[in-house]
Amino acid sequence: MPATFTKSTLLLSLLLGLTQFQAQAATAPSPAALATRLGIPNPAVIAHRGASFDAPESTAAAYKTARDLGADYLELDLQRSKDGVLFALHDNNLQRTTDVATKFPERKDSPANAFTMAELKTLDAGSWFNTAYPDRARPSFAGLKILTLDEIIDIAQGNPLHQPGLYIETKEPKQFPGIEHDLKMKLQDRGWLSPAGSKLGKSELAVGQGKGKVVLQTFEKSSLELLQKEMPKVPKILLLWVGEGNIEPASKVAFAESGEKDKAAYYAKQQPKDKAEFHRWVDYAKAQGAIGTGPSAALTKGGDQSYADLVQPWMNQYTHDQGMLVHVYTVDDAVDYQKVMDAGVDGIFTNRAAELLKFYKRPAAASVGQVLQNNGY
Ligand code: G3P
Ligand code: CA
Repeated sequence: MPATFTKSTLLLSLLLGLTQFQAQAATAPSPAALATRLGIPNPAVIAHRGASFDAPESTAAAYKTARDLGADYLELDLQRSKDGVLFALHDNNLQRTTDVATKFPERKDSPANAFTMAELKTLDAGSWFNTAYPDRARPSFAGLKILTLDEIIDIAQGNPLHQPGLYIETKEPKQFPGIEHDLKMKLQDRGWLSPAGSKLGKSELAVGQGKGKVVLQTFEKSSLELLQKEMPKVPKILLLWVGEGNIEPASKVAFAESGEKDKAAYYAKQQPKDKAEFHRWVDYAKAQGAIGTGPSAALTKGGDQSYADLVQPWMNQYTHDQGMLVHVYTVDDAVDYQKVMDAGVDGIFTNRAAELLKFYKRPAAASVGQVLQNNGY
């Protein structure tokens, strides 16, 4: 084949590709327009396990504090007890955040789903926080309980002045066959699956009353597909990270062999295998009906919630070009709020809702201490 033909063919292909890319970008709604259409605040304040910097995660103290500070969403990790009750807990077992080792020593390593709700309710889910964070400890945190989804819904509905939405993650969903259906039934029973276009869809309503009142999130492809099947009209986010079962890393060197001083340093160096691998995950999420992605962030201070930087500007741009939103997890410091906003994200999961609200110039009317006190803590 003559060289000139090859060159012109190449040029034509490049031009065609560019035109297609521009057309796609031009037809995608802006993130702000998309968020408005979905009833999702932009930027969104997502209280990660409640106000979990200030009170024991996933307890009434954390969720009531996040609600009364004015967070847009209460984030929770959904699990199901042995007797079928939906409840919120992040870890697979109860060791880190409860006194299971004292109350059920022979079962302390068992997964949380091996316990009935009555058993879970005997546990103290607050005292660990006082030990771990003495500077934020309060006697009233001792004895706080694990919460059912019903109880978190009650909390979300409990302040007439501000009703946040719920941002629900199906946690390790393969352990809980059918949890997507159970969740749908519960949300339906509680009136949290209002059809789009009903009077509850008006954008001027609080997020907890509008059409973006529930956002569903998962790391698992299979769960995203089931959530879409069960609740096609509810906004969904595919969570992203670099590692097994999710985005393939550029380097396969394990942490133990990496020579890095801690996991945060190790994760910070992780990258998707290539751009196409990142694109594949975003494309998959879109094809399954997700309205956005929830990527990890590398935090300036490191720590155990610092992962690979998946909110680089080119990544957010690509996601936006597909007409999707980006909600990054889990960011707590102003320097990182600024960094991820500059990179183009549309909302942030944070353990420090009060700080993020301040950063977004929507400061809470009362301090964290006052809010805790007002709620009896
Ligand atoms: O759900 C977003 C974020 O919470 C994911 O991380 O492990 O805290 O659930 P994790
Ligand atoms: Ca979560």
